[in-house]
Amino acid sequence: MLEEKLQANGPSPRQEIVDGYCLFQGELRQLAEANVSIATHALNYGTGCFEGIRAYWNVSQDQLYILKAKEHYQRFLRSCRILKIACPYSVEELVDWTVKILTKNEYRENVYIRPLAFKASTVVKVTLSGLRDEVAIYSVPMGDYVKTEGLSAVVSNWQRVSDNILPSRAKVTGGYINAALASDAAATDGYDEAIMLASDGQVSEASSSNLFIVRDAVLVTTPITADILEGITRKTILQVAAELGIPYEVRPIDRTELYVAEEMFLAGTGAQISSITSVDRRMVGDGLTGPLTRRLQELYFRAVRGMEDAYEDWLTPVYRKESKA
Ligand SMILES: Cc1ncc(COP(=O)(O)O)c(C=O)c1O
Repeated sequence: MLEEKLQANGPSPRQEIVDGYCLFQGELRQLAEANVSIATHALNYGTGCFEGIRAYWNVSQDQLYILKAKEHYQRFLRSCRILKIACPYSVEELVDWTVKILTKNEYRENVYIRPLAFKASTVVKVTLSGLRDEVAIYSVPMGDYVKTEGLSAVVSNWQRVSDNILPSRAKVTGGYINAALASDAAATDGYDEAIMLASDGQVSEASSSNLFIVRDAVLVTTPITADILEGITRKTILQVAAELGIPYEVRPIDRTELYVAEEMFLAGTGAQISSITSVDRRMVGDGLTGPLTRRLQELYFRAVRGMEDAYEDWLTPVYRKESKA
């Protein structure tokens, strides 16, 4: 299993994105020709929203699968709505553009896709109304965003943005300052990841993924009202748990529950399913990836590559195959 995963992995997320075809101003262009002015509203005020989507390369099937494309673009349009951004494309059209971009880039490896909608006017006025909007999509080859085993986490002293300050359920570009402050502080202090508390002191989520714990063999994650981004991976895991009869609860999580949990993992497009084995330098469970985390990881890593028939509907194949008939 692990061998298959590594075989079709890809470069680290830190590489500069310099080439490839993208969608910009309504057409396919080279990334080098898709530029904006320094006076762009979104660059100055953070008035944009985005998505992060993965596509997984299956070596033996010679196929690239986009994971949960429709669900990501549904959330994208909800983020646009919150920011009063008029997206000229429907969910289906956005999926079609994505397939076109990936096909044109001829990828044969794992890929990260970045849809971006933003206030494109070059005016000095802090508002959301009466501005020109722009929608773009670009992509980049990418392997694991974080290691998927044995992460160390710290409870951040940066509080997660509360929905009445900055919409937490929208993927707002400017809002990622909050995540950057928390994850940068965690990395500076020698941790892999930051866990953020909400304004009520209860657990919200990690810097750029949702959080699950296991207590008394029950899978637990925080509710969508805990100032989290409503994660697609989170929802997928809850659906899988329901189907497999794994007991789960969606409820507030207290800070000290992190210290007594048997297992803990991150869930997100970037993070995938990654086990956390220490929090605040305290061991989680016995300090190893737990059995429930392992079971979900194994299933997830197979399903996202089209290796589980039961979960085929998660995937959009990019390359057309000749019919065998
Ligand atoms: C703040 C935040 N929370 C949670 C997630 C996980 O969401 P998803 O599973 O839809 O990628 C992400 C990543 O997109 C995120 O940036």
